[in-house]
Amino acid sequence: MKTAICPGSFDPVTRGHIDIIKRAAKLFDKVVVVVMMNFNKRDSYFTASERVELLKRSLKDTTNVEVDMYSGLLAEYADKVGACAVVKGLRAVSDFEYEFQMALTNQKLNPDFETVFLTAKAEHMFLSSSVVKQVCEFGGDISEFIPEETSEDIIKRIKERKQSL
Ligand code: PNS
Repeated sequence: MKTAICPGSFDPVTRGHIDIIKRAAKLFDKVVVVVMMNFNKRDSYFTASERVELLKRSLKDTTNVEVDMYSGLLAEYADKVGACAVVKGLRAVSDFEYEFQMALTNQKLNPDFETVFLTAKAEHMFLSSSVVKQVCEFGGDISEFIPEETSEDIIKRIKERKQSL
């Protein structure tokens, strides 16, 4: 059985993330979506457990996808769950340098672990969790950017956080 990991900070999950996860689920027998820590993004809007819950809700209609969280290295987590690959979405050239560095680091740490890149859909090329937070904080409509099942909670949290600043 071939298992792949879809890791990310998912703060919060977007429709772009869900598209990549569902496409990965068609290529592999099992996909484990894992909420991890990005060393450069420590000030999160949602706790890791909240992010897991939002992902589970968005992926409730998938059968071969699990959601988990982990606070260590991705290469180490791959061994833990017996995954042969990590699947990442690539939006544009700007993603490439960072993703290439991550892929090479993971390959060094765990040589049996491959990185597979899927190109983002054209309509998601601009989309990121930061764009979602920024548009919402400035009063824009983010309902098309995030999974429908999560929109009430995500909008509420971003607005609460803005008020507390
Ligand atoms: O959604 P993001 O923020 O682009 O996801 C990045 C993430 C969390 C996948 C990446 O930072 C990661 O793999 N973190 C775990 C620690 C790790 O293994 N880092 C790579 C070697 S330095």
